[in-house]
Amino acid sequence: MRDASRAGADAAWLGMAGSPAAPGAAQAVTLRRLGWDDAPLVQRFVAALSPRSRHRRFFSAVRELSPGQLRAMTGSGDPRDLALGAFIVHDGASLVGLAQCAVADNAVAEVAFAVADAWQRRGLGERLMGAIVAHARSAGIRALHGTTLAENWAMLSLAARHGFEIVEHEDPQLACVSLRFA
Ligand SMILES: CC(C)(COP(=O)(O)OP(=O)(O)OC[C@H]1O[C@@H](n2cnc3c(N)ncnc32)[C@H](O)[C@@H]1OP(=O)(O)O)[C@@H](O)C(=O)NCCC(=O)NCCS
Repeated sequence: MRDASRAGADAAWLGMAGSPAAPGAAQAVTLRRLGWDDAPLVQRFVAALSPRSRHRRFFSAVRELSPGQLRAMTGSGDPRDLALGAFIVHDGASLVGLAQCAVADNAVAEVAFAVADAWQRRGLGERLMGAIVAHARSAGIRALHGTTLAENWAMLSLAARHGFEIVEHEDPQLACVSLRFA
């Protein structure tokens, strides 16, 4: 199986501008597959998100992830799962974005994304989404599925740009996005 996380991941990407450490400076960001060893980094990344971003990602004011959530967010389940981290290249340790693709039933995978507040609207979500879709295609995943707040236009438009269909959820506060592969 081609490792799509590496396909998109190894070429460093130049952010347009800014990082939490050096606002206004161009920064290179690289994507790599996360593992259980990254759990402390993921925990710190989530704790540093604004309450608004955390609520949009988890639909609650979660501050500390449980071991089960950390396992899901570091891709420690099905071998087709992919958890990707976006790291600032110059130190290799500053995590500024996360994406998960977790296979559930019948080769359908759940996806979720979070970008550090200072990095939002700079193309990082776009890059993470592209890598997750490429991975899903090469891993033989049948469809990608995500749940988001119905008011989360950032996520809905990012998904729509990648061909996801937006589907109503039984809870009117939520919406589903779905991408089927032929
Ligand atoms: C949703 C999220 C992952 C998008 O990441 P991002 O890095 O900001 O997105 P990008 O900069 O790559 O933007 C890609 C496209 O998404 C859409 N988008 C992103 N932010 C948007 C916003 N605030 N309003 C409307 N559209 C937006 C646009 O179509 C945008 O393309 P454009 O800039 O050419 O118009 C990010 O906003 C985030 O982490 N939010 C908090 C957590 C969350 O909502 N997770 C989703 C639930 S799983």
